[in-house]
Amino acid sequence: MRDRRIRDLRIVAKWLRQNGQPGLDESKDRREDTGLTELTLDKLPEKVLARIDLQTAFMISRCVVAAERLQVFRKLHGRKLSAAAIGRMIGVRGWRLEAFLAALVSVGLLKKTGKLYSNTALTSKYYVRERSIFWTRLFSEECRRDYQAFSVLEEMLTTEKSYASILGIESRDYIKEMKRNPQWAHDFTHMLYHYHLPHARSLAENLDLSNHRSVLDVGGGSGVMSMALVRRYKHLKACVLDIEPVIHVAKKIIRRERLTRRIDTMIGDMTRHIPDGYDVVMFCDAELGGVSTLKMAYDSLPGGGLVVLVEDFSSEDWTVPLYRLMWQLRSNTFWLHSKQQMVTMLRKSGFVAVRSRRIYKDTWLITGRKGLARRRRASRT
Ligand SMILES: C[S@@+](CC[C@H](N)C(=O)[O-])C[C@H]1O[C@@H](n2cnc3c(N)ncnc32)[C@H](O)[C@@H]1O
Repeated sequence: MRDRRIRDLRIVAKWLRQNGQPGLDESKDRREDTGLTELTLDKLPEKVLARIDLQTAFMISRCVVAAERLQVFRKLHGRKLSAAAIGRMIGVRGWRLEAFLAALVSVGLLKKTGKLYSNTALTSKYYVRERSIFWTRLFSEECRRDYQAFSVLEEMLTTEKSYASILGIESRDYIKEMKRNPQWAHDFTHMLYHYHLPHARSLAENLDLSNHRSVLDVGGGSGVMSMALVRRYKHLKACVLDIEPVIHVAKKIIRRERLTRRIDTMIGDMTRHIPDGYDVVMFCDAELGGVSTLKMAYDSLPGGGLVVLVEDFSSEDWTVPLYRLMWQLRSNTFWLHSKQQMVTMLRKSGFVAVRSRRIYKDTWLITGRKGLARRRRASRT
């Protein structure tokens, strides 16, 4: 009886492994918790780079996106399979299958030994072990959308229209998408949980909260940043504020991490109201927009309170990080704030002692303090 149950469990686990279902990957991701490193071109062998021309590189990149959409690398993980077997799993046949696999071999993402294909070490590391299933699913979908957008770049540049209106498609609004589709909110929030783990660790190492007692994590998503902070500062409490579908997911993640006594949640809209009662208000990758949200944060804080911003703010000439510049090009409204502009915005909102420092790759930590209320002269005289 016991043997049969073990065998059944193995069959289920194998099926999940082959089909990339979230159930299996969620537990695996928890064990690894390494965050995510992108496979940038510098990690490819030189002989592969030498085959890539900058103008046509998008076709190769599109093959990689398709491989991710079809979960080729996950399905091949730890296995050697024939083209026909891979084809059956991903629903591709004939010469297109052979050509698709050859393209992945050519860029060093698959290895062909005899008639069998397997992942290379690069693929196993970057596309399977360090990548959550949520990232595979959502990021590759996002890339597909980007291909659509960039296919009409000249029209966008010359007509100032959005790619959505040029292509006659619905424009993408991830907040609307999350409100419409709880599964999407679940995947998105989990994706960012994994992606931001290293950022959260760096934040906890770099932000001194020994003299503060409570953090409001605005647009806090999964609460990953709050988790790192309350783990470092044992006296600290936090509250994650986000939209309703995200808060449902965050609650589960906080429970799973056994932090319900330290981290609370609140449904809210940061563009309308920032609640008071916290001596730190934090925005991590929260798209806080303009000065008005910062002013609300200022008003909500007590004297001596701290505002904390964490984001990949751009360099003054916008060239770094490159992905933000590309997102700006794709966008229909201007939102690209440089690090220095954010510092200025904080000062304009009333904050003093504004400091900034890079804490991880292109990620900046900017802090500002609300001054202590001055005693009235009248009361002294
Ligand atoms: C890019 S995610 C970052 C999440 C989290 N801070 C992190 O670092 O992982 C941005 C978050 O802001 C939330 N958000 C966007 N607009 C919001 C609004 N008006 N009010 C509350 N939350 C908002 C989104 O739902 C999302 O969870």
